[in-house]
Amino acid sequence: PRIAVIVVAAGSGTRLGQEAPKAFVGIDGHTILRHALRGVFEAPEAQIVVVAPSGREGEALTEAREAAGDRAGQVSVVTGGATRQQSVAAGLRELWPSVEVVLVHDAARALTPPDVFARVIDAVDRTGWGVVPGLPVVDTIKRVDGQQVVEAVDRSELTAAQTPQGFRRDVLETAYAVASEEFTDDAALVAAAGHRVAVVQGDALAFKITTPADLDRARHLAVPVPP
Ligand code: CTP
Ligand code: MG
Repeated sequence: PRIAVIVVAAGSGTRLGQEAPKAFVGIDGHTILRHALRGVFEAPEAQIVVVAPSGREGEALTEAREAAGDRAGQVSVVTGGATRQQSVAAGLRELWPSVEVVLVHDAARALTPPDVFARVIDAVDRTGWGVVPGLPVVDTIKRVDGQQVVEAVDRSELTAAQTPQGFRRDVLETAYAVASEEFTDDAALVAAAGHRVAVVQGDALAFKITTPADLDRARHLAVPVPP
């Protein structure tokens, strides 16, 4: 395929506070990873690289093959690193030669609808820029200095960045090769390497399962994985 999706699932989920690593926590009868992969496989055809925690690779492969159905040949699993950035870098090393566009997606955004993937791919193809899905910020945001409110920040200048974030392969690989610090997301890493990044419409369902309250919300919103 011309597209690859790196699904980073190697985090421990400290803030969720469950026994299992976050990607292996159940939403219903199925895990966060399994739900995330359903969206990935409903999106345009792609090589899928799942980045799993050390020791959980076998489980991740089983879930990925289940989600892939007759596309199991397009799936591979690699071991993640100590940071999200290291996990993405591990995924990048697995890309097939045919891949020209890479999407990086958090498994923790388990309910992301397939059309977000399609919008991101379209925008990368159209612009050649990095692309992030974003949502308007609804809260009133203040800049603070310790206890003191310094100023209100103009909301119209802000977007809340989600994943999947998409990039031309050469751009993402080069940006990772020169990155010398930890960035908050792939778009920031790519921007630091001097590339432009565009925003397309995100989706409320692409929220990241971070806290126990997020997991409750996912449990209310999840549609069962088809058999
Ligand atoms: N991730 C990863 N490798 C890491 C850290 C994070 O692949 N070393 C992945 C997570 O599995 C998740 C995504 O990056 O899908 C976003 O990270 P986050 O929501 O912060 O997940 P965790 O790091 O697992 O959670 P926490 O920060 O609460 O420990
Ligand atoms: Mg984390």
